[in-house]
Amino acid sequence: MLENRRILLIVSGGIAAVKVPDLIRRLRERGASVRCVLTESGAQFVTPMSLAALSGDKVFQDLFSLTDESEMGHINLSREADIVVVAPATANIMAKMAYGLADDLATTALLATDKPVMIAPSMNVMMWEHAATQANLTTLQDRGVHIVGPGAGDMACGEVGDGRMAEVMDIVDALGEFFKSRIEHGPLSGHSALVTSGPTHEPIDPVRYIANRSSGKQGHAIAAALADLGAAVTLVSGPTQEIDPPGVKVIAVETADQMLAACTAAKPVNIAVCAAAVADWRVAESANSKIKKSDDGLPQLSLAENPDILATLAHAGKDRPRLVIGFAAETENVIDNGSAKRSAKNCDWVVANDVSAGFGGDENTVSLITQEAAESWPTLSKQAVAERLAARIADHMKNS
Ligand code: C5P
Repeated sequence: MLENRRILLIVSGGIAAVKVPDLIRRLRERGASVRCVLTESGAQFVTPMSLAALSGDKVFQDLFSLTDESEMGHINLSREADIVVVAPATANIMAKMAYGLADDLATTALLATDKPVMIAPSMNVMMWEHAATQANLTTLQDRGVHIVGPGAGDMACGEVGDGRMAEVMDIVDALGEFFKSRIEHGPLSGHSALVTSGPTHEPIDPVRYIANRSSGKQGHAIAAALADLGAAVTLVSGPTQEIDPPGVKVIAVETADQMLAACTAAKPVNIAVCAAAVADWRVAESANSKIKKSDDGLPQLSLAENPDILATLAHAGKDRPRLVIGFAAETENVIDNGSAKRSAKNCDWVVANDVSAGFGGDENTVSLITQEAAESWPTLSKQAVAERLAARIADHMKNS
């Protein structure tokens, strides 16, 4: 459940911060990536160096760091995670969260995030039982913050009672449970989805191929977003640098023919999203050995047309997915061309994007074209586009 999950771990200033290195180790053993934000008081208990070494990432500490802000920015820091975990969560940071204070990087990220938040409170028993802390706890719970622990026992301060941070493995298990239950109760649970992503590589000979600049970022993000809403997702992907999205069955292919075969084998599904940049042509007969330069002139390559995977899925008879979505990468007349593609390929929706700025970036400006309307979305991260599309798909599946 934690494989490839991105965890933003906020470490505030309690003695239990000494357990954080072990927490990071356990999370990473389970395939999660951990990025740490360390508060000023947290740094009294654990060093940024140890967190950086164990997380394998930079540790973020300063709201006003010019370098960090230009490279990442506190808003992105909180958004580029699947969950934000505060461990240990002191009485102080809980109070700030309850009141919406944002006076350092940790609290600013907590206020700016649109992601689920889990806290592992850790404090003296009297502080925990204090009416103020209990009121803050209720406020946070009412807002949907997930609470793990605290447990009871001997405390570093010598007193005994509630307030000990949950054991490391209890936090790890709570995170696993969180992702599991989100999938089981998600709006797309019970639905199956097929997503294509990435470019295809069409061999010329054993060492050369025809390809394109697709990064696979958008398709992979869509697969991840659908899985997060509970769909059983098969991602058929051409060669990319992207990591396999959590909880998704990934089938790696190279050519358009292989992609079509994998898509056909993945059916029946009730949702299909074709985000792959499938090569339009392949070399009609690729050579079995490397084509050599010769004095007899240039090699002649004759091309053959590749199958249109989207059109094939969208035209298939009774096992046609209920919702088929295509992409249209256009450099001009984005909406008109996207609408024409929607009809020509018989798909239900088209996500049309302007690629005049080029491929491979982290952001996308798209319009969602349905039979009824064309809706232009603002420029968003590819992840945000994916989440928004997945939410629209979930609405559609509920209402249709
Ligand atoms: O025709 P064009 O390549 O512009 O159409 C783009 C849409 O069609 C995308 O959704 C792409 O994944 C899909 N497509 C496909 N198979 C092809 C060509 C495009 O699935 N051979």
